[in-house]
Amino acid sequence: MKKILIVVLALIVLVAGSAFYLIKLKGPVYADSADAQYVMQNITADSRTSRTIVWQSRGVIPKSYIEYRMTGNQNSSQIEATNIDFKTDEGVVHKHTAYLSNLKPATKYEYRVGDDKNRTNWFTFTTEAEKVSNYKVLIFPDSQCADYGVWQRLSSAAWERNKDAVFFINMGDLVDNGEQYSQWRAWLRAISGMVSTIPAAPIPGNHEYYTLDWKATPAKLYENLFSLPTNGTEGLPNQTYSYDYGDVHYVVIDTQAEELAAFDNNIYERQVQWLEKDLSKTNKKWKVALLHRSPFDWRASDAPNTIGKSFLPILDKYGVNLVFLAHIHSYSRTVPVKNFAPANKGTVYITTGRSGDKVWEGSPRKTFDEVFYNPLDQPNYLTLEVTDNELYVRAVKQDGSIIDEVHIKE
Ligand SMILES: [Fe+2]
Repeated sequence: MKKILIVVLALIVLVAGSAFYLIKLKGPVYADSADAQYVMQNITADSRTSRTIVWQSRGVIPKSYIEYRMTGNQNSSQIEATNIDFKTDEGVVHKHTAYLSNLKPATKYEYRVGDDKNRTNWFTFTTEAEKVSNYKVLIFPDSQCADYGVWQRLSSAAWERNKDAVFFINMGDLVDNGEQYSQWRAWLRAISGMVSTIPAAPIPGNHEYYTLDWKATPAKLYENLFSLPTNGTEGLPNQTYSYDYGDVHYVVIDTQAEELAAFDNNIYERQVQWLEKDLSKTNKKWKVALLHRSPFDWRASDAPNTIGKSFLPILDKYGVNLVFLAHIHSYSRTVPVKNFAPANKGTVYITTGRSGDKVWEGSPRKTFDEVFYNPLDQPNYLTLEVTDNELYVRAVKQDGSIIDEVHIKE
């Protein structure tokens, strides 16, 4: 009996040793077993030649990598990612960021991420063409939820119908409580297919600025989770930035002065200076601004509030064509507005609705609104299609029915 046991043990040692030797000879095993999750693309200032890829790992990964290649090409390049750790209410998150530059325009790429031993499956992205005259963007209003299944179903419906979208915008209040990491995980998990394929371009909303006990605080998790263009207002990372796609220049403005008052008391003054510089530099035909809160009083009147008094003169001065807003969970589209009043030629303000499960029955129709709709029955999203001669916006319910559509000409 003892002899048999010794023989069996010897055989086990022999088989395990051979397997170990073979694996060693073969080198790293690239399987879908990498400790890499929540793989996402983030928008860059120039989508023709660059892309940012962000992911997280459960464990500490001293060296993490992105490997990428043109689709159909067997030779891949590899660069090491930048790693940061940040604290959440669930413990430390290990974040990895890789900035891909010098990419070829109008080209389909494959990428995978991981460490020295393991890699994920391949994901794909396509760079913007040198001259793009027709493209589509998905826009999601407030996605804050009690049940992120609602966000999952709405975003999936939008993505299934619009696989030709080249990036997507989130209008702030991405989650209900910005310090609760489980909400961010649910938010990211819901869009894993979309966000690993096209870049996210989020803007911050007031709910990103709440502590677990609902006190105002800087939006640390929002700031840490994303890696967005660093061309914004100094001291406001990921909160303000700008980027180009085709013949459109997009600017992101942070409207959370109220939440930040005790931490940073002049964010509008600094953003105004930045915005003036940013808009004066662009030669793009179209300009689109993205703000979470409206520049107009939230009640039925359309008197400018502090945000409006700060930013509307600059939006007017540089002829911003379209402004997307959020926060009040209804959909509305104003007539063109200039100098705080309706005008023949001016900026159209679209309040985008809700893509989560929070509704506000009292959301008011206002004096400048040409169209108003409160999506109490189901969530909604928007598409923005850019062509040579117009910006075409559609507001769509989850079931595919149209709330509103508008063609904005020069
Ligand atoms: Fe909000």
